[in-house]
Amino acid sequence: MRILGIETSCDETAAAVVQDGTKVLSNVIASSVDLHAATGGVVPEVAAREHIRQISPVIDKALKDASVGWDEIDAIAVTQEPGLIASLLIGINTAQTIAYIRKKPLIPINHISGHIYANWLNRADDMDFPILVLTISGGHNDMVLMENHHKFKVIGETLDDAAGEAFDKVARLLNLGFPGGPVIAKAAEKGDSTSFKFPRTHLHGDENRYNFSFSGLKSAVWREVKDLPSLSAKKANDIAASFQMAVVDILADKLVRAAEEYGVKAVHLAGGVSANQLLRQVVRQRLPKGISLLWPAKNIYCTDNAAMVATAAYFSRKFMV
Ligand code: KG4
Ligand code: ZN
Repeated sequence: MRILGIETSCDETAAAVVQDGTKVLSNVIASSVDLHAATGGVVPEVAAREHIRQISPVIDKALKDASVGWDEIDAIAVTQEPGLIASLLIGINTAQTIAYIRKKPLIPINHISGHIYANWLNRADDMDFPILVLTISGGHNDMVLMENHHKFKVIGETLDDAAGEAFDKVARLLNLGFPGGPVIAKAAEKGDSTSFKFPRTHLHGDENRYNFSFSGLKSAVWREVKDLPSLSAKKANDIAASFQMAVVDILADKLVRAAEEYGVKAVHLAGGVSANQLLRQVVRQRLPKGISLLWPAKNIYCTDNAAMVATAAYFSRKFMV
């Protein structure tokens, strides 16, 4: 089964063709990130206008790269929510129009379930459940227990910022650019992660044991930066390294505890922040032997893409959810 996936929830206009849920025949992404770098964050109106410009050429290229015609596409999958409403509507309207004209089934997909299914791309489709997934992006930060295909239970979420959002905001404070994740990781390579003692917010109360909060950490960085007479490159690198270590500590600690409590077979990292090398390394070190760890097979499957939307759709059909 070949599915054309379409994703326009934020600033990436993406289309992809995926065969049988795991084989990526094409994966086209046009990002408007350079336009948003100037403003240090995504401006919804700018993102939506770029989607309008890009959506048709991106879909054409996805079919061309996959060497398939419309007759060889079995269904259209599109990100339905959550996301920027004006951006989502462009993908949805386009997908609805194609589905109607070409007489194909239309499969709406939740963006976070798309991120979760990014771990099936370029992999065998027989994974052992239960799986604990940490979905960490600019807009979401959830801990999801997956008992089977498309059987999701959210056991934790952020009470304020998502980890990626914290990376983006701290990068802006340090004048490092946008998006924050990759530039902070790069600055951190030259910094000392023990130089600043930033808080690890673990939250009180049993109901919060797998919830997250990053706003205190972000404010702590802001206070340090504000009190500095000047921000040298060395100080920026040290702050970046100490901040990154704090985020990774918080995420890894809760993730490992939940993996043990729920007795999962595997832990998956997903979403833009799952591209972070330190996070992968620390979780691997702290996770008990016997629990396997996966992150998307390529970094382009961590951040927003349409292949993940197509594969989530395939597994929703295969298991009739
Ligand atoms: O999944 P994604 O592309 O979009 C959302 O659904 O939000 O994630 C984007 C987020 C941004 O906040 C970006 O700073 C973060 O992922 N990110 C990273 C890294 N690469 C991207 N965060 C930490 N380390 C990275 N290497
Ligand atoms: Zn995303």
